[in-house]
Amino acid sequence: MRILAVGDICAAAGRRLVRTCLSKARDRLEADLVIVQGENANDNGRGISPDTAMDFFYAGADIITLGNHAFNDRRIYDFLDENDTVARPFNAPPRSPGTGYSVLDLGKSRVCVCSLAGRVEMDFRYSDPFKAADQVFKECRADIYIFDFHAEATSEKKALGFYLDGRASVVYGTHTHVPTRDICILPKGTGYITDIGMSGGSLSVLGVKPEKSIAMFLGEPYVRYDYSEKDPVMQCALFELDEKGICLSARALDIYPGPSGEIIIK
Ligand SMILES: [Fe+2]
Ligand SMILES: [Fe+2]
Repeated sequence: MRILAVGDICAAAGRRLVRTCLSKARDRLEADLVIVQGENANDNGRGISPDTAMDFFYAGADIITLGNHAFNDRRIYDFLDENDTVARPFNAPPRSPGTGYSVLDLGKSRVCVCSLAGRVEMDFRYSDPFKAADQVFKECRADIYIFDFHAEATSEKKALGFYLDGRASVVYGTHTHVPTRDICILPKGTGYITDIGMSGGSLSVLGVKPEKSIAMFLGEPYVRYDYSEKDPVMQCALFELDEKGICLSARALDIYPGPSGEIIIK
């Protein structure tokens, strides 16, 4: 089984990448399951609308995971309650709409894709992600477990990777928008990377136009974050599992449109 995980889709440039590249990438990579991190899909980088979620499914996503911006766009609340193919963090505050994992029946195996959010340098209202992961194994019956750990601290992410090694098939990080070069297979067979990166204008500061980010750091009292459209790249990870869910290979990928309609995968 081949799983393609796509990093945080940032605003218009990110949405365009999904529209133009995702189904071609899915075919070329022979992915059986495509998971897209959708928390920054809106123009302002905060949240996702139901229409955009539907666009992502139409473009080849099976499951959308969310993160700390899951609840910024209220239009998604009913959609989260009605569709279990969009997973907001499982450890979100108790009154949050929606569900924290999606279960997909792929014929030979039932796959659970769970979204978890970190607590270090993040929203204090989220519960302990380590205990939350244990809870997922207790309450969700599946053959294969995949975790999108949406967190800031590299230490928290690596610790959760080792904590779930041998129980989860894949643990990958999102949220920092900067890919790490530590993709690997952990000792007990879990595919792992600390952060897969983002999808959007790569000539940017985490997706935002550099001049906007610089203005914020220089002390402008109010800066509207406009998102970059320059040099769009979809940063992803591809994991291959055996029938028992042991990770056989793990690769970080950049996917972007070529000059004449084809896609480039590096
Ligand atoms: Fe993000
Ligand atoms: Fe985030």
